[in-house]
Amino acid sequence: MNTSLSLYATLFAWLLYAIMLNKVTCSFNIRCHQKDKQALFNFKQGIIDPSHALSSWFTQQDCCQWRGVTCDNITSRVTHLSLPCSTTLPTYTDKTNKSLCLTGSIYLSSMDFEFLSYLDLGNNDFLAFQFDSVTHNYQNQSVAVHPRRFVNSSALRYLDLSGNENLAMNSLQWLSRMSSLEHLNLGGIDLHKETNWLQVVTMPSSLSELYLMGCQLENLSPSLKYANFSALRYLALSENEFHSELPKWLFNISHGISRIEFRSCSLRGQLPKELLNLRDLEALVLEDNNFNGPIPDWLGELEHLQYLILGSNLFSGSMPTKLGNLSSLISLTVGGNQLAGVVSERNFAKMSKLKEMDIYLSPPLIFDFDPHWVPPFQLAQILLGFAGPNFPMWLYTQRSLESLAIVESSFEAQGKFWNFVSKVPEVQIEENLIDGNLSNVVLNSSYIDLSSNGLKGGLPRLSSNVAVVLLSDNLLSGDLTPLLCDHKMLSAESNLLYLDISLNHLSGGLTSCWRNKKSLVHVNLGGNNLTGPIPPSMGLLSNLTSLHLHENKLYGQIPFSLKNCHSLLIFNVRDNNLSGNIPHWISLSAKALQLSSNNFTGNIPPQICQMSSLIILDFAHNTISGHLPSCLHNVTALVFNNASRYKFSYSFPSFHNRYLIIDDGLELVTKGQVSEYGKNLHFVTLIDMSSNNLTGTIPSQMFSLTGLFSLNLSHNSLTGKIPNEIGYMKHLESLDFSVNNFWGEIPQDLSSLSFLSYLNLSFNNLTGQIPSGTQMQGFNVLSYIGNRDLCGPPLTKNCSQDVKPKDTEPTHEDEHKSEFVSWFFIGIESGFVTSFLGVCCTIFFNRKWRHAYFKFLYNMRDRLYVAIVIKTNVFRLR
Ligand SMILES: *[C@@H]1O[C@H](CO)[C@@H](O)[C@H](O)[C@H]1NC(C)=O
Ligand SMILES: *[C@@H]1O[C@H](CO)[C@@H](O)[C@H](O)[C@H]1NC(C)=O
Ligand SMILES: *[C@@H]1O[C@H](CO)[C@@H](O)[C@H](O)[C@H]1NC(C)=O
Ligand SMILES: *[C@@H]1O[C@H](CO)[C@@H](O)[C@H](O)[C@H]1NC(C)=O
Ligand SMILES: *[C@@H]1O[C@H](CO)[C@@H](O)[C@H](O)[C@H]1NC(C)=O
Ligand SMILES: *[C@@H]1O[C@H](CO)[C@@H](O)[C@H](O)[C@H]1NC(C)=O
Ligand SMILES: *[C@@H]1O[C@H](CO)[C@@H](O)[C@H](O)[C@H]1NC(C)=O
Ligand SMILES: *[C@@H]1O[C@H](CO)[C@@H](O)[C@H](O)[C@H]1NC(C)=O
Ligand SMILES: *[C@@H]1O[C@H](CO)[C@@H](O)[C@H](O)[C@H]1NC(C)=O
Ligand SMILES: *[C@@H]1O[C@H](CO)[C@@H](O)[C@H](O)[C@H]1NC(C)=O
Repeated sequence: MNTSLSLYATLFAWLLYAIMLNKVTCSFNIRCHQKDKQALFNFKQGIIDPSHALSSWFTQQDCCQWRGVTCDNITSRVTHLSLPCSTTLPTYTDKTNKSLCLTGSIYLSSMDFEFLSYLDLGNNDFLAFQFDSVTHNYQNQSVAVHPRRFVNSSALRYLDLSGNENLAMNSLQWLSRMSSLEHLNLGGIDLHKETNWLQVVTMPSSLSELYLMGCQLENLSPSLKYANFSALRYLALSENEFHSELPKWLFNISHGISRIEFRSCSLRGQLPKELLNLRDLEALVLEDNNFNGPIPDWLGELEHLQYLILGSNLFSGSMPTKLGNLSSLISLTVGGNQLAGVVSERNFAKMSKLKEMDIYLSPPLIFDFDPHWVPPFQLAQILLGFAGPNFPMWLYTQRSLESLAIVESSFEAQGKFWNFVSKVPEVQIEENLIDGNLSNVVLNSSYIDLSSNGLKGGLPRLSSNVAVVLLSDNLLSGDLTPLLCDHKMLSAESNLLYLDISLNHLSGGLTSCWRNKKSLVHVNLGGNNLTGPIPPSMGLLSNLTSLHLHENKLYGQIPFSLKNCHSLLIFNVRDNNLSGNIPHWISLSAKALQLSSNNFTGNIPPQICQMSSLIILDFAHNTISGHLPSCLHNVTALVFNNASRYKFSYSFPSFHNRYLIIDDGLELVTKGQVSEYGKNLHFVTLIDMSSNNLTGTIPSQMFSLTGLFSLNLSHNSLTGKIPNEIGYMKHLESLDFSVNNFWGEIPQDLSSLSFLSYLNLSFNNLTGQIPSGTQMQGFNVLSYIGNRDLCGPPLTKNCSQDVKPKDTEPTHEDEHKSEFVSWFFIGIESGFVTSFLGVCCTIFFNRKWRHAYFKFLYNMRDRLYVAIVIKTNVFRLR
């Protein structure tokens, strides 16, 4: 008894000791300096952390153990803070989803972080930045500034705030106190207000790497002779709008600058020979500008050059043979220029390290290679365009290709060629004149684009490696079975995601083999000669986001099984012989329903209104009867038009952090004509119910669709007055009420629709004076003809004296103007540009999204392009 008691006592003592010891060791292990901890807490205060990425900042005692924090081993002071957000592009839409990234304000004090040398907050979604007492934020409103002491110089050596696309800085003066800074990346941040940026970034005298890509910079100070960079080695200023020549100061940076990047900067002029001053140059990236003149042969003297990226400019003359001396060259890009002459093996004589080649060249430049030439290089990536029928046989010597692109060429493709292609993971052979038959070919690449090539024969078979296949715009015939139902291939699990065989001569039915391809997200079989009903087995495609079956001869009803395609966003069966009622069971998250030019009957089901994301509703040219539903205001996407920020694009991950991006598209009738919408499809908000048998009046709820861009109710039997409320539809650019029974006067408020550029009210029963207003008289007479009693310009019929002039309420109009102004601002802020048809606006919008991505592999039709995330690929170097 006693012994056991004492045993327990001893045990207890041990236990206590162990606990104490543990505690001691614990506290011994806490290395975090109280001052740093407080600084980190201060920093944390400004941050909104929706995904609780910083939860360890609460649970852990030792701040050196916190996520993203690194302390010095000896002094225990916080030296590194690294909290970049890692995002990937979703398969659909090419905008990264930052809902899980950090946001709020970056709040830094040099006094707090005395020892911080490394700070990476890249790719998050911060909205404001504050260094010591200077505040910078997006709206340019002054935020309460805490008066803080600050030291003259911060210890920061590495600073990366890139990819915070909603961040703007009016001034970079804070850089003057960062005298130790070596690496600075502010890519994607709006710096257009800092007109003096060049002088400011030279202030940290130790700066060696400067990345200001997509910062909306404009002034490159091209005539400035010297910029006071004393240690600069990397300079990346891509995606800014400089509109000038290469700046003089660039050639006078005294020590060895090794990388220069000015991709897509609207630069012009000839390449000046002063570039030879930059003897240490390893990368010269001048792609996608307006440089002209020859590609100078003295570039061959820059012996350290590894990256020579000159594509998509206006260079002329021949390819200098002297470039063949660049024995360190890894990447050569000269495609998309206006070169002439001959390219042969002499142009590549010493390029044994070459990995990437882009010489997409158009006539009169020709390839003249010795058919037995064995190149000194093994390429990973090649983009070729060659004039003349001579297929460069040396291509077959390349055994480690990751990516092969051939454009604008003509050659004969036999078995050997397809065998070669099947070993390359990414293949883009677009817009060629290929003499080839695909009947017995098995495609094996993950990505294979053979669009617009004049390929003949039946459909090829696909191995289970194939994820993306584009065969559109060829002369392929026969039915779908080789591709969908091939039994030899069925044993392996299919990974097919994207299938586009549109614009061929395919016939037969849609087959019942869809169960073999459940992974599909995109199917486009439009513009063929397919017939029969839509098979219920298509309902097995549960990940399908986009289905295009337009312009075929399909008939029958839409199968109810399509209800199971929960992810369907675009459903396009335009121009078939489909019948039955309008399917209202299609995915509730659908964004575009295009059922036009079929034989659909019955009423418009009110369930349509539950599809709150719809932006395109095209039921034109059917035999739909009954009234317009009075619930359309439930389609919130048409009311607010905030869906427009997400593009209809697919992104597929590729090599080296790149993505292959394919835009979805639809053909729509707007402004009285058929237009194809691709890149800009996400801007379109449209209701087209024209040429049906609709009756009754327009329900007033329809006029609350203030986000609508195009409304077409023409060729129906609608009646009633056009109410003044139409003036609320501020975004309308195209309005067609022609050939109906509308009566009464044209409402004055129609003239307040500032963006309206197409109006058709012809063949109704309208009366009275056409309202005065800037564009109302600008429309053609055809907009108004065929009405009973309309008068006033542009019609020749004068209004009789007793008709009251309609402009008696000037205040009313003013009210609308101010409303317009506020709408306009909302539009700009939300990244939405109303007048999307114009090229200028596409560019305007591009400026915003281009911050995050830029394309580098150009493609004439821009359908399949490659994007790189700025953050991870400042230079496209391996
Ligand atoms: C600090 O210590 C960690 C682990 O104890 C070690 O991995 C790291 O290399 C050390 N850092 C330095 C600069 O010594
Ligand atoms: C972004 O991601 C979050 C979380 O994964 C998700 O809830 C949200 O719907 C996504 N937003 C968009 C627009 O895709
Ligand atoms: C924005 O900044 C400008 C000067 O760049 C200033 O004139 C203006 O008042 C600021 N606006 C706000 C809302 O603070
Ligand atoms: C900071 O700069 C001021 C003037 O520029 C100078 O008087 C002061 O001594 C400096 N302080 C430190 C700690 O370097
Ligand atoms: C479509 O098929 C029909 C017969 O089924 C044929 O007569 C017609 O020529 C085909 N059209 C095209 C464009 O292939
Ligand atoms: C559908 O997509 C999800 C998520 O991307 C994936 O996990 C699933 O395997 C896909 N379904 C099929 C049938 O491929
Ligand atoms: C349309 O459908 C009706 C019956 O629903 C049918 O009688 C008619 O022939 C069809 N028209 C066409 C052009 O297919
Ligand atoms: C429209 O929305 C309202 C509520 O906002 C709801 O009560 C009504 O049922 C909806 N109508 C339809 C047809 O979805
Ligand atoms: C259109 O509707 C009217 C009555 O609602 C009906 O008499 C007529 O047959 C319909 N026309 C067609 C082509 O369905
Ligand atoms: C036009 O309107 C008048 C009354 O405003 C009506 O008597 C007439 O029947 C209408 N004509 C048509 C074709 O609807």
